[in-house]
Amino acid sequence: MRVGVLTGGGDCPGLNAVIRAVVRKGVNQHGFEFVGFRDGWRGPLDGVTMPLGIEQCRGILPRGGTILGSSRTNPFGVEGGVERITDNLAAAGVDALVAIGGEDTLGVATRLAELGVAVVGVPKTIDNDLSGTDFTFGFDTAVNIATEAIDRLHTTAESHHRVLVVEVMGRHAGWIALHAGIAGGASSVLIPESPFDIAAVCAHVETRFRSEYAPIIVVSEGALPADGSGMTLVSGEKDAFGHVRLGGIGDRLAHEIERRTGKEARAVVLGHIQRGGTPSAFDRWLATRFGLQAIDAVADGEYGVMVALRGTAIVRVPLAEGTGELKLVSPQEYAEAQVFFG
Ligand code: F6P
Repeated sequence: MRVGVLTGGGDCPGLNAVIRAVVRKGVNQHGFEFVGFRDGWRGPLDGVTMPLGIEQCRGILPRGGTILGSSRTNPFGVEGGVERITDNLAAAGVDALVAIGGEDTLGVATRLAELGVAVVGVPKTIDNDLSGTDFTFGFDTAVNIATEAIDRLHTTAESHHRVLVVEVMGRHAGWIALHAGIAGGASSVLIPESPFDIAAVCAHVETRFRSEYAPIIVVSEGALPADGSGMTLVSGEKDAFGHVRLGGIGDRLAHEIERRTGKEARAVVLGHIQRGGTPSAFDRWLATRFGLQAIDAVADGEYGVMVALRGTAIVRVPLAEGTGELKLVSPQEYAEAQVFFG
């Protein structure tokens, strides 16, 4: 059996740990051969491959990024894309594919599986917004990076009596903001699921100043003001899956807080720092277990599924279950955190 492996979408700490586990178990226990497809769906689309075996996987467990490269290529947006993929898989002698990615990459995998391609999915995203799994790998690392940043920003905010706004990733879901905001003791956490009231945010800032404590506001890049007053910034550019490029809410928020409260406010955008570098121990563990179970699914001939974490068990769920609907922060979970706001 010859198995293709690809990683698509934004890079994410733990991708290499999945690749390593898939290959190690695939070679050592199942006697499989592997081929790496470069840069997400671009690899099978254009027939771009690289050798993939135990040798290529040595030393990659703690390394961020992906040795296979990544892209946001959408083969369904390309004329004849599906035929090109099936032709190139056949030409490379590939019997089954392991696709590691988030909603877009696994969305493509779901549609290909429906068309008969033998594919198993592994859920990845720092955003933790894939349904069907309790956690995606990459999220824990991102939360730890954001929390460390908040801890450091506390000291500057306190010393200079400033408001510090920390913009974190999260296009549709506020998981990183919520977890890092709680862990870092933020005075407000603003998430895409719940449009924010700028007056309430400013009131929280004033409360913090009265108690001589530093106001730290954690905001997801996709958060919006309740009145829709246009405080988000989008560049207008869209990727192949139609997502607009976000960024700018932190700066706009800092400006508005300064204007309304008269307190100096600065914004810090954590951006790709959250996705880069070495994965946390939890993410290495989760990514490794996902990889081991994904190659077992291939060995069992069980395709059209995604591996998922449920409690402490790794299970197989239909790909469509993971990609059908985003997993968002519930109103109850968000409300729970509000006792710490202000
Ligand atoms: O999907 C992960 C993610 O990091 C999102 O949080 C973010 O909105 C997006 O990717 C940014 O993507 P890019 O690096 O392609 O701009």
